[in-house]
Amino acid sequence: MALPENRKLVAGNWKMNGTLAFLDTVAEMRVGAAGGLAEADLLVCPPATLVSAVATALDGSAIAVGGQDCHAETSGAFTGDIAAEMLADCGATHVIVGHSERRQYHAEDDATVAAKLRAAHRAGLVAIACVGETKDEREAGNALAVVRAQVEALLDDTITGANTCIAYEPVWAIGTGLTPTVDDVAQMHTSIRETIAARIGTDEAARLRLLYGGSVKPSNARELMAAADVDGALVGGASLNAADFLAIARAC
Ligand code: PGA
Repeated sequence: MALPENRKLVAGNWKMNGTLAFLDTVAEMRVGAAGGLAEADLLVCPPATLVSAVATALDGSAIAVGGQDCHAETSGAFTGDIAAEMLADCGATHVIVGHSERRQYHAEDDATVAAKLRAAHRAGLVAIACVGETKDEREAGNALAVVRAQVEALLDDTITGANTCIAYEPVWAIGTGLTPTVDDVAQMHTSIRETIAARIGTDEAARLRLLYGGSVKPSNARELMAAADVDGALVGGASLNAADFLAIARAC
């Protein structure tokens, strides 16, 4: 079980959405979260083009800013890529790594994701590492084993509750409106926590926040966030609307 003092984290993943006009929505979020929310810490992960502007717009607010991906190297001939250090330089404190859309569309394997996770730590960023099974893997009864292997591939002795979150995002639940049952979410999160504990110890594993992601909305957030071993949410579509995003945070 997670430690009772763990505050939940609600992180918004804007994916490839948002231009400078979106700063109006950011301003709404800032006002809505003024003074901090009792229920949860807040994070938004805009596209890389907006990280700097959003970090400036949210400076001194209760909402932190993160990137959606980073390269494993610090610098070099990697056209179009962004180093974790560059995100930190723009005001990011977190970065998502291993999102299923990166794994699917950019052929990122577990080793690549692990290298990106280490890069995030090297840059002083909290890594939000995503794992999750496909529909076929769940239907074949392999979800727990698939996710356990994905988590094990990320673990080493440098992982702590302070520098890493794991986001369980069943691929079939992302952007589909489908969600696993609360029992399935709890079973998976407890299994992930046990896998982490076996590597870094029970106390440290209890401090590591496990987020659920995949079609989280204001209408289902309360029951999903109440599931065992769920320490927050990674929210895609609903994080693009200030009222919905804040409603999810308040439901924690
Ligand atoms: P969704 O996306 O909330 O739109 O399903 C979640 C994610 O991909 O992180």
